[in-house]
Amino acid sequence: MATKTKSIFVCQNCGSERPKWEGQCRDCGAWNSLVEETVAKAPKNTRAWSVGGDGAPSQTVIALDAEIDLKETSRWNTGLSELNRVLGGGLVPGSYALLGGDPGIGKSTLLMQMAGKLGGVGRSVLYVSGEESVEQTALRAQRLGLRTAAVQVAAESRLTQILNLVEQLKPEVLIIDSIQTIYLDEIPSAPGTVSQVRECAARLMAVAKNSKIAVFLVGHITKDGSIAGPKTLEHMVDTVLSFEGDANYQFRLLRAQKNRFGPTNELGVFQMTGTGLEEVLNQSELFLAERGESLIGSTVFAAMEGTRPLLCEVQSLCSGSYMAMPRRTALGFDVNRVNLLAAVLDKHLDCDFARHDVFVNVVGGLKIAEPAADLAIASAMLSSIGGQALPAQTIFFGEIGLTGEIRAGSLAVERLREAEKLGFAQAVLPLGNKKHIEKELKSTKLKLQFVKHVGELSRFTGAELRHIPDPHARKAAPAKAASAATTTVRPPELP
Ligand code: TYD
Ligand code: MG
Repeated sequence: MATKTKSIFVCQNCGSERPKWEGQCRDCGAWNSLVEETVAKAPKNTRAWSVGGDGAPSQTVIALDAEIDLKETSRWNTGLSELNRVLGGGLVPGSYALLGGDPGIGKSTLLMQMAGKLGGVGRSVLYVSGEESVEQTALRAQRLGLRTAAVQVAAESRLTQILNLVEQLKPEVLIIDSIQTIYLDEIPSAPGTVSQVRECAARLMAVAKNSKIAVFLVGHITKDGSIAGPKTLEHMVDTVLSFEGDANYQFRLLRAQKNRFGPTNELGVFQMTGTGLEEVLNQSELFLAERGESLIGSTVFAAMEGTRPLLCEVQSLCSGSYMAMPRRTALGFDVNRVNLLAAVLDKHLDCDFARHDVFVNVVGGLKIAEPAADLAIASAMLSSIGGQALPAQTIFFGEIGLTGEIRAGSLAVERLREAEKLGFAQAVLPLGNKKHIEKELKSTKLKLQFVKHVGELSRFTGAELRHIPDPHARKAAPAKAASAATTTVRPPELP
């Protein structure tokens, strides 16, 4: 049967299709994102990507009390404990994963190192690069110190050839670097377009699910940080990993954005060195390494990344503003939250953030989304505006509510243990956590300072900050000053 072709317009942002070109995608609202693509209409009953294959018997129904073969669900050690952690305890055979990240962040390096480690324990790996030649890929691998016959590299971007190679070599792990460079001949659109990516990804999914090969795709990301190509790509895979980092820093953060085999909030930390990526196991020490002596405007926040505590430095600078609308800038933290904290602090403490520019920075390129960071950030802001150093060797955590109350944070005991391990002397934390901590933490070297309202922060940030219990007291003051300023007019003295 001859395949028919038709021309459609596909939004490169969300993958929706239109019969005609339109300036704006009606589904996702992106401008100028529709691109003409030619699609081959395959006969309906020969969908190559249907999982289960050509009438192969596939077990699709299973009762929940059935014995599921544990061998199938056991995980492989990737040799990189940080990667294992993010994957949810190791690599699942037959899993389908997507690794996204900025160009040059180290995606190829990470997967090549993983390939080397897996090859080292005898697992066969096929690394297919559509971006580099075989020599380039092999040279990089050897520079990383990987010399193992179990890992084979290929430079290929035609998917049919890749599938032939898989058939021939029968690897246990297949790495495709990258999904945007491979293509199917029968689809006339260019590699990287929505129809190519969607179709190639679907065929590779069949490889993963039918042959129990763990497949890793490298995905490019767009300017705004999302994975290039259709959203369906992210829906199709089991795991979406993102590799992030700041060009100015050596370390790279690996996170799971989606994971069908584990939690998504785990963080893996690596450091890019001359000989590849190195795992960072003592992360808190790394993020506190350059903490200076002057502690005005600097606090240590005891964060939780997944199940693991991570201490990091939070800095703030508050300076008098020359603008009608003071500037509020936050790096690694939500700027709206900074506005909120400034308003709450202004309300309860005499600190006048309304006339100050406020800058907040989470040191080391980390991004914090936890509301428990409020107390640390608020303390740093108060310290900076008042010019008073905060007590040294002290960690902070706790969420601040709109009425100025400090709410209990989760996993307080883990945070305290990490602080104690790193030699901190004191912790400022919500009173709401007290009961639980007293029960769980039998003894600690830390001096625990429980707080329940932002007003109590004046204790740590100096005498400059007055607690104003009665807002009317402020209004009364100018009236008194006005009466003192009235002067009696004397008549001019006569000669
Ligand atoms: P790469 O893995 O090619 O990035 P991606 O695949 O995400 O585009 O990494 C490229 C960068 O990593 C490059 O700028 C050089 C650096 N690098 C090192 O610093 N040390 C190394 O051992 C390697 C292999 C790369
Ligand atoms: Mg690469």
